[in-house]
Amino acid sequence: MARLTALFAALVLASVTLASPVVEIREPLVTLPIARRLNATSGRTILEHDQARARNFLSRGKKSAEKRTASITVTNQVDTYVASVGVGSPATTYSLLIDTGSSNTWLGASKKYVKTSTSKSTGGSVSVSYGSGSFSGTEYTDTVTLGSGLVITGQSIGVASRASGFDGVDGILGIGPVDLTEGTVSNANTVPTVTDNLKSQGTISTEVIGIYYAPTTSESVANGELTFGGTDSSKITGSISYVSLTTTSPASAYWGINQSVNYNGATILSSTAGIVDTGTTLVLLATNAYNKYVSATGAKLDSSTGLLKITSAQYSKLTNLNFVIGGTTYALTPNAQIWPRSLNTAIGGTSSGIYLIVGDLGSNSGEGLDFINGYGFLERYYSVFDTTNKRVGFATTSQTTSTSN
Ligand SMILES: *[C@@H]1O[C@H](CO)[C@@H](O)[C@H](O)[C@H]1NC(C)=O
Ligand SMILES: *[C@@H]1O[C@H](CO)[C@@H](O)[C@H](O)[C@H]1NC(C)=O
Repeated sequence: MARLTALFAALVLASVTLASPVVEIREPLVTLPIARRLNATSGRTILEHDQARARNFLSRGKKSAEKRTASITVTNQVDTYVASVGVGSPATTYSLLIDTGSSNTWLGASKKYVKTSTSKSTGGSVSVSYGSGSFSGTEYTDTVTLGSGLVITGQSIGVASRASGFDGVDGILGIGPVDLTEGTVSNANTVPTVTDNLKSQGTISTEVIGIYYAPTTSESVANGELTFGGTDSSKITGSISYVSLTTTSPASAYWGINQSVNYNGATILSSTAGIVDTGTTLVLLATNAYNKYVSATGAKLDSSTGLLKITSAQYSKLTNLNFVIGGTTYALTPNAQIWPRSLNTAIGGTSSGIYLIVGDLGSNSGEGLDFINGYGFLERYYSVFDTTNKRVGFATTSQTTSTSN
């Protein structure tokens, strides 16, 4: 991974309209570069990871009436975004997966935890199961440095004594809702997330995370950015539209929203709840919606990659796949619906094949979690995760309609 440095963005343009003066709010926004890594031998592995993650989201959500167990989500190690995070003083740098679908921050999967004078054991044991991985160990508090300058003191972190399924990364930076930490640490009810602590320690004034990903055409590249405390206006081309978090369970346990999906003038998924997730590669649709998309596009499931495949004649007829969220339509252009062709051989495809990034969620709609907007969506729209105002926002970027794939 390229060496990364933190950037301190200066401005937030809070409101820009033609008739009124520009309102500038100066905030100490902290922007952390993030890098996408693809480590897959087949598209099928990616689909299986995404589906396993979906099953875990569903099953955990259904337990929400009971005391939450430690089992939460799967992290997609085959294709993921990582950030360099410093822990301790002096800090040791760890490569952590950015995960909006889980909320414990932990390390020790690859690089060992280096204890310094700021490391304190809480005496609690921690254990989290993800769909295709898990870790257990001891909970510590320590100083966490994001980028080169943003310091959180006393951040609760898990230190793995056992971890499986996390080859090549050191752990997770969990930026999901704090309730997902319930039941994961033996002597704590919930464990404040890094975003919670940035707010409570006065470093940021609003508990907001802005995420920018660009379409990726190589296997490892620093092309994303995670902003704490606000949004990075330099990455956004329009204005941000917000939607309230959904009240439908189990999507409501995560960054859940209501959305409908249409293709070529026909509704393929009526308004229903699902989630926005940085740990999922594809865009997953409930089976009944996925089947409608398959018939509308003429795609066939490709046995070598496990992904949908279309011919070039079908590609030339592809139309926008539209996601309607809070009254705003977010289109995935035909080019945004296909897997980057420069990465075809990395997933077991042929270099000239045209594979689709829409996958089957694995269950019909009506489950309360009927879609997952993963990277396929998030690489085309800037996303905003706003804990303070209980909402999610999206905005167009220079990549929304780019022909990168
Ligand atoms: C890639 O995946 C293989 C097989 O799962 C694993 O052995 C390897 O460590 C992974 N590499 C990285 C950089 O994640
Ligand atoms: C989302 O959809 C559900 C089910 O149709 C509805 O009850 C709810 O009011 C909608 N809006 C929100 C913000 O949850």
